[in-house]
Amino acid sequence: MIRVLFNKKGGVGKSSLAVNLAAISASKGYKTLLLDLDTQCNATSYLNAQTEVQDDTIAGLFEQTITFHIRRRPADEFAVATSIDNLSIIPGSTRLSEIESELDSRHKIYKLREALDAVRDKFDRIYIDTPPALNFYSLSALIAADSVLIPIDCDDFAIQGLFSLQQHIAEIREDHNEKLQIEGIIANQYLSNAKLPNRIIETLLDEGHPVLPVYVTQSVKMRESHQEKKPLLQLAPKHKLTQCLLDIHEYLEQEGIGHL
Ligand SMILES: Nc1ncnc2c1ncn2[C@@H]1O[C@H](COP(=O)(O)OP(=O)(O)O)[C@@H](O)[C@H]1O
Ligand SMILES: [Mg+2]
Repeated sequence: MIRVLFNKKGGVGKSSLAVNLAAISASKGYKTLLLDLDTQCNATSYLNAQTEVQDDTIAGLFEQTITFHIRRRPADEFAVATSIDNLSIIPGSTRLSEIESELDSRHKIYKLREALDAVRDKFDRIYIDTPPALNFYSLSALIAADSVLIPIDCDDFAIQGLFSLQQHIAEIREDHNEKLQIEGIIANQYLSNAKLPNRIIETLLDEGHPVLPVYVTQSVKMRESHQEKKPLLQLAPKHKLTQCLLDIHEYLEQEGIGHL
């Protein structure tokens, strides 16, 4: 089952949630693969999985669709183990931006889906971290995925663009991927006693947006976790933020498409 974290807005928690949900998934015994489709490689550095060998990154996986290869390597051969049991990652690469226009002009938009479909039975869960734009890579991910999770920071501009984002996703579902579901909007950076986040979530729910009932609290532990290159479950298993992430994961597996 393939879940993509996506929002055109940056800084909302896509990478943080992708890494932490994948790490929790792995700890629950699911064989889990994380893909880093962002040239900023935040998920990759969070898991300390940078590599010097460009062929062994997500760029290598895409590149073999536009260059001649005697044998195309399956996606799982690009995955590297992490320090967490059951969790592997296909590392991100800055090279993605160099090859994007060629991939696009040669209509390689279905190649990620083909590559992941071919290894679906080797992983219980696949998570994809995306760049903050609806570009070739995020579109490839949405075409490959079963579910999309949309993180928002509970800030003033959170609502802006959310409607058009969901329209875009509906269009992708109609044109390319009928199984794609919006599994939910994740309210991140939530502060329970501040007025703004509560007002924003209320407005979204009133307008019928699928905000998940578990909110992810704002905490400096998140930054610490990035710095230590350790997901929260490993860094601070008892922390309130970790509990929120465990609850989101549990909710998705019980109520989302995880139970299918
Ligand atoms: N729940 C949270 N509490 C505090 N800081 C957070 C939280 N979620 C994300 N952050 C911080 O916000 C910044 C952006 O998060 P990130 O996951 O990189 O967003 P994106 O991938 O959407 O650009 C990072 O510095 C991260 O540490
Ligand atoms: Mg990111």
